[in-house]
Amino acid sequence: MRQPLLALLAKEPAHGYELKLALEQTFGQAYPSPNIGQVYVTLKRLEQDGLVRSQDVEQTTRPNKRVYELTPAGREALSTWVDEPSDGPRIRDEFFVKLILAPMAGLADRIELRVGGALDTIRALPEEEQFDAAFIDADKLGYPKYWTELVPRVRPGGVIMVDNTFSHGRVLDAGNDNPSVIAVRTMNDLAAADDRVELVMVPIGDGLTVALRH
Ligand SMILES: C[S@@+](CC[C@H](N)C(=O)[O-])C[C@H]1O[C@@H](n2cnc3c(N)ncnc32)[C@H](O)[C@@H]1O
Repeated sequence: MRQPLLALLAKEPAHGYELKLALEQTFGQAYPSPNIGQVYVTLKRLEQDGLVRSQDVEQTTRPNKRVYELTPAGREALSTWVDEPSDGPRIRDEFFVKLILAPMAGLADRIELRVGGALDTIRALPEEEQFDAAFIDADKLGYPKYWTELVPRVRPGGVIMVDNTFSHGRVLDAGNDNPSVIAVRTMNDLAAADDRVELVMVPIGDGLTVALRH
């Protein structure tokens, strides 16, 4: 009952009866309908735990109603719960509850696709540490600039992966002056000298550089 109530409140503030109705509409016959006492007891506990807060809203013709809303700590707790893996037969039910509740709480479909030139797309992102992982695998000529633009946008502890950093071995052939090979070599040198990262070149496929951002 705690998590469904948090998820419903992530959508919008509500009072107890609205929440009871929303729970019934969301889960239909799949779960027993909650009684209003259970809803209020759970809301009270959530409030004691600092996950929701409430205020009385005056009504002209009826008694005041108490409206509940999610606190930042409640949003954090909900997000942590959605992200935790759940497995095993008893908790399987909970998995489906998450599937239903996550989109409602704005915690699903978090992928945002940006189609366009890689460099312009990266440069349009704020130049602040924000990503946990980046993967460079587009045109090789752009590699040095992708590296330069991406490193400041990855959080400390985040990972930057770069594919094809061996260029089929041609990066080691000093006589090879193909512009794509020169660009990958340049990026490899930039990365090796970059003290914002710790890196390893993994000898699989055509060479995969994995860099950990300090
Ligand atoms: C080797 S594939 C990458 C595949 C992808 N990383 C994957 O694992 O599915 C290279 C892709 O980069 C795209 N590409 C090449 N240059 C680009 C650029 N300047 N901006 C955006 N995309 C580019 C190509 O169209 C191609 O789809």
